[in-house]
Amino acid sequence: MRELEAVETVGVVGAGTMGSGIAQVAAVAGYDVVMRDVKSEFVDRGFDTIRSSLDRKVNSGDLSDDDDADAAVERIEGTTELAELGEADLVVEAAVEEMEIKQDVFADLDDVTDDDVVLATNTSTLSITTIASATERPELVVGVHFMNPVPVMKGVEVVVGEKTDSEVVELAHGFSEALGKETWESDDKPGFVSNRILMPWINEGVRAYDEGVATKEDIDRGMKLGTNVPMGPLELADHIGLDVCLDATETLHEELGDRYTPAYLLKRKVDAGDLGKKTGRGFYEYD
Ligand code: 3HC
Repeated sequence: MRELEAVETVGVVGAGTMGSGIAQVAAVAGYDVVMRDVKSEFVDRGFDTIRSSLDRKVNSGDLSDDDDADAAVERIEGTTELAELGEADLVVEAAVEEMEIKQDVFADLDDVTDDDVVLATNTSTLSITTIASATERPELVVGVHFMNPVPVMKGVEVVVGEKTDSEVVELAHGFSEALGKETWESDDKPGFVSNRILMPWINEGVRAYDEGVATKEDIDRGMKLGTNVPMGPLELADHIGLDVCLDATETLHEELGDRYTPAYLLKRKVDAGDLGKKTGRGFYEYD
């Protein structure tokens, strides 16, 4: 496996919201980046997104000045040729959320990159193990699930496929930290930690609106004021993209069926009297 210390050039597949965000944070962290999309207008749009995001970072004082922003953009090379990812020491794929497309991309990456290069996917719900099966190096395939907007959100979810090598998992954590992120780890189960929990929340917000429980504004206000989240479910769905939410929810539905009956563990804990903070023990323990 190519060690993190040997990584100088990061390949990014996809220049959309997530791909351009990943390219940006990698370039700001000092990596050379090759950002590839299928059409030159998509690559150009990716650069526009990066420039405006960097401007916000400069204006908010997160980046010291325009020179840093310019230097980061300079470090990113845009291309429509997948073969140009051959120079990458690590690749992060952020293409469309369709298994067939991801498997094709990974089969191609397997051909064009050196054999020891780790291939990471930013998939939000698809199986890392299935994506990895399109390659001859499933042990070098791992999930690095960035959150939107990538330049702002602190967290990255590291997802461990059936065959992912433990050193590759460590590299995924280390790489994310090198980009200034903090990580958590999930097994390769549908939706991982983040979307398995987030998507039913959003879905229920949509249902509540559809069934006339409250206005859309009150649903979002209720969840923000009532639970201190930065965005309510409908605002967040708009922010993520309703298509992304629907794709993710459909995958979860296919894989997990009806998730809305009370979880068995919830019933078991209540029966046991572990009611949360008020009893000193729920899912966590309290003094
Ligand atoms: N680069 C890019 N976008 C930026 C940015 C930057 N440097 N700074 C702000 N933004 C974006 C925000 O997304 C939003 O977009 P808009 O212009 O299209 O409306 C807008 O700028 C709001 O900017 P503000 O300056 O008002 O920022 P806020 O202080 O309101 O914070 C936020 C915005 C950080 C997005 C905050 O509302 C938040 O944390 N929301 C929750 C986001 C969240 O949960 N993301 C995870 C989604 S799940 C996911 O990504 C997984 C995937 O698999 C589905």
